[in-house]
Amino acid sequence: MASEIRDPGLWESGARKIEWVRRNCPLLRMTGEEFEKDQPFKGKKVTLSVHLEAKTALLCLTLARGGAEMHVTGSNPLSTQDDVAAALVHEGLDVHAWYGSTPEEYSSHIRNVLKPGPNIIIDDGGDLVNMIHNEMQDLIPGVIGGCEETTTGIIRLEAMNRAGALKFPMVRVNNADCKHFFDNRYGTGQSVWDGINRTTNLIVAGKIVVVAGYGWCGKGTAMRAKGLGARVIVTEIDPVKAIEAVMDGFDVMPMNEAAKVGDFFVTVTGCDNVIDTDDFEVMKDGAIMCNAGHFDSEVNMKGLRALAVETAEMRKNIMGYKLPTGQWVYVIAEGRLVNLAAGDGHPAEIMDMSFAIQALSARYLVEHGSELTEKLIDVPREVDRKVAEMELKFLGKEIDVLTPEQEKYLNSYDL
Ligand SMILES: NC(=O)c1ccc[n+]([C@@H]2O[C@H](COP(=O)([O-])OP(=O)(O)OC[C@H]3O[C@@H](n4cnc5c(N)ncnc54)[C@H](O)[C@@H]3O)[C@@H](O)[C@H]2O)c1
Repeated sequence: MASEIRDPGLWESGARKIEWVRRNCPLLRMTGEEFEKDQPFKGKKVTLSVHLEAKTALLCLTLARGGAEMHVTGSNPLSTQDDVAAALVHEGLDVHAWYGSTPEEYSSHIRNVLKPGPNIIIDDGGDLVNMIHNEMQDLIPGVIGGCEETTTGIIRLEAMNRAGALKFPMVRVNNADCKHFFDNRYGTGQSVWDGINRTTNLIVAGKIVVVAGYGWCGKGTAMRAKGLGARVIVTEIDPVKAIEAVMDGFDVMPMNEAAKVGDFFVTVTGCDNVIDTDDFEVMKDGAIMCNAGHFDSEVNMKGLRALAVETAEMRKNIMGYKLPTGQWVYVIAEGRLVNLAAGDGHPAEIMDMSFAIQALSARYLVEHGSELTEKLIDVPREVDRKVAEMELKFLGKEIDVLTPEQEKYLNSYDL
């Protein structure tokens, strides 16, 4: 089947974006060189569904250098960049995705990248894995395994695995140290504020920012809000995380209390209806909400649309809703991932580490998939360590090495 993209003529702009990323992604460059030499994916089909922008494109090209036949789609209708999709098609890859796809088009793109029969799956949020298990089971025997990029996808996979429904091994890429320590915390922290700032063009200093969820992404989002001069309130459901937020210097309260005082709201929980109709009703006039969690269900958009007596698009990616009580509240990018739907996603150097883990985990699956007994596995320790060592080298930093005596000391109990 031919590629399905918005406009093949946009490829030059996409190619420039990919070149910029390539210059700032030394780990993927090194991995690509290794792959080109060893051809680990020769004769293998790789189907990938990840937010389709320039960093993801570089991951696709890296896998293709290793011999993979690539079938590519996005993982969110609003994060696909049409020029990047065109650049990949120009490079000879099979791509099915466009910005602003309807739910039906999005599902059809997912189906069409799976149709060639993947050997390796690279997923972000679980849409490929769900589709193949629910509608395309005949393709399951050909799948060696897959890699899942994000927390939300892993939660779905864990539920499937508990129910005995997962039919091939999946690697929890998010759980690698070199993924969530850096991508979720520093990547989300920076790119969420990039998305909010470029979309709203408003000052953050002196405002009250409410961050829902104090996991890896929430910590980064709150830390950067503080750096911009905001007063930060955290909402949580986990008492330990709530204490952590307090000790980090933030206020903690339930969402319905925070809703009364917040200027900016960022949800980043992986849960749904975190900001609900009873919260909208008590918000200040002018409150701005956005979401950085994987799905667009963290702000109850259905409830907000039903409640609104008037709506108005205020700027690109900002929709206003007038509530029956008279105040206007605003939502960025329809409640979809703010850093991707209203920005360019994580910084290149961050995705360099995350995608090096993806690429090396995919190689691990090709080389060791048949030996795996578990359906849900962590990124092998040696892959995580290799990525950390490459990154440290790129940063120009050296660390100490244990002497044999120190190693013995650390491994003894009868000192
Ligand atoms: N925007 C991005 O680029 C990006 C990057 C990585 C992960 N993610 C997504 O962000 C979400 C969070 O990821 P994470 O790695 O921080 O997960 P995490 O598990 O480390 O943190 C989630 C936190 O949210 C809290 N929480 C859950 N339900 C809540 C609720 N109703 N109210 C308040 N707090 C609640 C949990 O207790 C937990 O502390 C996931 O959906 C993940 O897929 C987004």
